[in-house]
Amino acid sequence: MSSFRTLDDLGDVTGKVALVRVDLNLPMKDGSATDVTRVEAVKPTILELADKGAKVLLLAHFGRPKGQRHSTMSTSFVQGDVEKVLGKEIMFIPEVMGPVVEQSIGILRNGDIGLLDNVRFWPGEEANDPEFARGIAAHGDFYVNDAFSAAHRAHASTEGLAHHLPAYAGRAMEAELKALDAALGNPEQPVAAVVGGAKVSTKLDVLENLVGKVQHLIIGGGMANTFLAARGVDVGKSLCEHDLKDTANRIMDQADHAGCTVHLPYDVVVAKEFAANPHSLRVCNVHEVAEEEMILDVGPQAVEALGDVLKTCRTLVWNGPMGAFETEPFDAATVALAKTAAALTEGGSLTSVAGGGDTVAALAHAGVKDDFTFVSTAGGAFLEWMEGKDLPGVAALK
Ligand code: 3PG
Repeated sequence: MSSFRTLDDLGDVTGKVALVRVDLNLPMKDGSATDVTRVEAVKPTILELADKGAKVLLLAHFGRPKGQRHSTMSTSFVQGDVEKVLGKEIMFIPEVMGPVVEQSIGILRNGDIGLLDNVRFWPGEEANDPEFARGIAAHGDFYVNDAFSAAHRAHASTEGLAHHLPAYAGRAMEAELKALDAALGNPEQPVAAVVGGAKVSTKLDVLENLVGKVQHLIIGGGMANTFLAARGVDVGKSLCEHDLKDTANRIMDQADHAGCTVHLPYDVVVAKEFAANPHSLRVCNVHEVAEEEMILDVGPQAVEALGDVLKTCRTLVWNGPMGAFETEPFDAATVALAKTAAALTEGGSLTSVAGGGDTVAALAHAGVKDDFTFVSTAGGAFLEWMEGKDLPGVAALK
């Protein structure tokens, strides 16, 4: 943890220009953000620097414009949302380098905040072109990276800038790295991982990394069906990647060798159609799924047993829902297990870290998003971290 500098290591920043990489890639509807969690996450860093008298220049991407200006992808679209969260007016600057940026810095007073345009409008960003990074760096006195959720990209603003300016982790990045270290880097054992979601194919590397690191691997969601099928269970019409049965068996073998117990459901919630509260809904043993039925959630007995597993653990890392949680009542297992984890966290026996797009939505749905030790706002970056990969944006800060 002491391997990178934080805002605590900054000296006097009065009048200095801070280039702060944030993630403002917000979900939008009708011109405004539907979720500003990412802005709330970077607010402490921005306000701390502004309060200390720096001129803060926010650097961010928005969508995937692929190196060209795109009228619908300017960061000016999120300016209003950022101002609302910060409770402060900010200046929009329609460039990332050059005379316009220089003049804007001249206009900004100490403690003011500027928002540069979408850094992905320039091809040098994704190419991580050192000339491009140098051009941006020329405007700043130091660089702060507070965008963990973009740290899996080796781009100029997420990685390159750290080679041209003194680099610091922002408060959100610092909190994220601390929590991730507590979850998989140097965790208190035993460790449980909950991995859910639709497909094994999207999480193969995650599973292979986890079996060597955790004592309990709890598999839920559609992915569990592939593992059940690999064990010879007839999963009927369930979502199942039959071509990955060998892979699933290999992962279970690896787990055996590493002393990791893989937990699959033994009772399940099934229905003949995927709809809210269908007539055909029933709970059965995994060996009793009929040909025309689909597994849509983990059953209540299995959930109780999984809760008991969590009670024996000191650390939990969670990615992906246990069932089709967006449709009732197939949210039951996710909600129940999330509540158990939250209660154990509150009781002080469990450190719980969760992340990934669907996961945050699932925990929010269960009403326990604020009761986990840490919930990451990152999607792809969280998954790559769970895969055991070095994230370029983090490595560059070291
Ligand atoms: C995200 O939304 O997960 C991050 O901002 C990264 O975006 P990207 O997948 O377009 O790089």
